[in-house]
Amino acid sequence: MKKRVAILISGRGSNMRALIAAASAADYPARIVLVISNRPTAEGLEAARDLGIPEVAIDQSLYPSREQFDAELDRALVAAQAEIVCCAGFMRILTPGFVTKWDGRLLNIHPSLLPAFKGRDPQAQALSAGVRISGCSVHFVVPEVDSGPIIAQAAVPVLHGDSPQTLAARILEAEHQLYPHALALVASGAARLVGGQVAASGNVNRPGTLFSPPI
Ligand code: GRF
Repeated sequence: MKKRVAILISGRGSNMRALIAAASAADYPARIVLVISNRPTAEGLEAARDLGIPEVAIDQSLYPSREQFDAELDRALVAAQAEIVCCAGFMRILTPGFVTKWDGRLLNIHPSLLPAFKGRDPQAQALSAGVRISGCSVHFVVPEVDSGPIIAQAAVPVLHGDSPQTLAARILEAEHQLYPHALALVASGAARLVGGQVAASGNVNRPGTLFSPPI
């Protein structure tokens, strides 16, 4: 039985599109039942509509508190019978109450090799730190931002002359491969959260995308 998945977005939604595309395969263990944006103008909403996926905006500006917004979000997810929730460029911090309720079923993608470069502008942080390899991570969400147990990662080189934009574009390509892979692990039960750690069963090992840094 395919798991019912909702995707949370705030903007362009390219990871959302990668997840929708992967989930259209007959043997993928999940199907996308709803896309929710906290911003009514998010480009991704239109893309979801075009792809025939139910979508809704829950306009954050209409909710006086984080708790009220998250309660509405939870109502929409429950109404759609979502079993797994994927944050994909969802630029909003979720309350501990919401995160706890969805513990083990709430995923996020972050464009760095966590635990390095949490928070905003991780690509610029990577360039400032001078690392030669960066990448992306899919992790279970915990109340502390970008800190949950890591499900899967992919690495890409940082090239001399990179700007935050060129590095972000290279990482984004890897994100589009990684997120469908990580969601499949969780939806199939091959990776799950047990006692605050990711427990793996079956053949979950797939080499990440690794490149040698240029000399
Ligand atoms: C991605 O880089 C994601 O990792 C980060 O925000 C960006 C969203 O891009 N959290 P998109 O909306 O999926 O195109």
